[in-house]
Amino acid sequence: MPLVNLRKVLDHAAENSYGVAAFNVNNMEQIQAIMEAANETDSPVIVQASRGARSYSQDNYLKHLMLAAVELYPHIPVVMHQDHGNSPKTCISAMENGFTSVMMDGSLLEDAKTPADYDYNVKVTKEVVALAHARGVSVEGEIGCLGSLEHKEPAAHGSKPAEAHDADLEQEPEPEGAMSHLTDPEEAERFVADTKVDALAVAIGTSHGAYKFTRQPDGEILAMSVIEEIHRRLPNTHLVMHGSSSVPQELQDEIRKYGGKMNQTWGVPVEEIQRGIKHGVRKINVDTDNRMAMTGAIRKVFALTPDKFDPRDYLKPAREAMKKVCIDRMVAFGQAGHARKIKV
Ligand code: G3H
Ligand code: 13P
Ligand code: ZN
Repeated sequence: MPLVNLRKVLDHAAENSYGVAAFNVNNMEQIQAIMEAANETDSPVIVQASRGARSYSQDNYLKHLMLAAVELYPHIPVVMHQDHGNSPKTCISAMENGFTSVMMDGSLLEDAKTPADYDYNVKVTKEVVALAHARGVSVEGEIGCLGSLEHKEPAAHGSKPAEAHDADLEQEPEPEGAMSHLTDPEEAERFVADTKVDALAVAIGTSHGAYKFTRQPDGEILAMSVIEEIHRRLPNTHLVMHGSSSVPQELQDEIRKYGGKMNQTWGVPVEEIQRGIKHGVRKINVDTDNRMAMTGAIRKVFALTPDKFDPRDYLKPAREAMKKVCIDRMVAFGQAGHARKIKV
């Protein structure tokens, strides 16, 4: 089976009320971990690469790794998605390099930092939709800006280190100002009508990286009710949750146990994602949990067997650890058991 577009997989997910994890990749072991997990659970796959990932791994390597994946597992539908495209130019180069789906993130300007206004967002997103749909590629848009409700700044693309997170928290909290970067359901409705995107990323107080929440999140800082309202207005639109790693306690503990430095932190509980899936969430972005799983496994090998220096001695356990996270999410989101049912 060739690579498929996002619309194909998410339409099936919506018809059968499940969600699909979108895992970020930048190397071979990560792609292998996802494909092995998908093969064992019969799950459709969304693999995504950020701009940083594309420049780290280079498009030619990425493209051919993805082609190897579909060659090895012809029964699994695989989407190759550009994560957080910052401009039409980025999305066009992704399409030219074999991506079957692109995110035009016009919620921020091209610098991937400055919040954009509605008209700019519609303009760049519409431009990408026209080009993408003409070649059978799907488009994800975003309305509202990702970022924590525990401090006031919307977040830039990519994840933040602990120090940046600590600096954010030193700012005076401004609950009303902070709420303003969340998705406005009325604006979401207009945005989908104006752009015809295939999937819509919404901002509900999540952010990228490990440092999402300073406590177990509740409705004050993780606004799941916003998703419910958007779904009520847009029952036929596939919703996307970014910044959706759960940052499990055991992965934090493993990293610390083997010498890593990680402040205590909380992610998005899997049960909240499952609640989202009941209300139209079809694509769930997960990167940090896999990074943590691989790092914990590598640290363990280095700490317990300092004599090892063959990369396979630590990359194999790292791949296994990531595969386990992928299986857990594939089962929890309900995509397991559906790969063979998607007819292309
Ligand atoms: O957008 C966030 C993803 O986790 C990708 O992060 O820009 O460090 O590759 P990255
Ligand atoms: P996490 O950092 O929570 O894994 O989010 C990844 C993401 O949203 C990629 O777009
Ligand atoms: Zn994201």
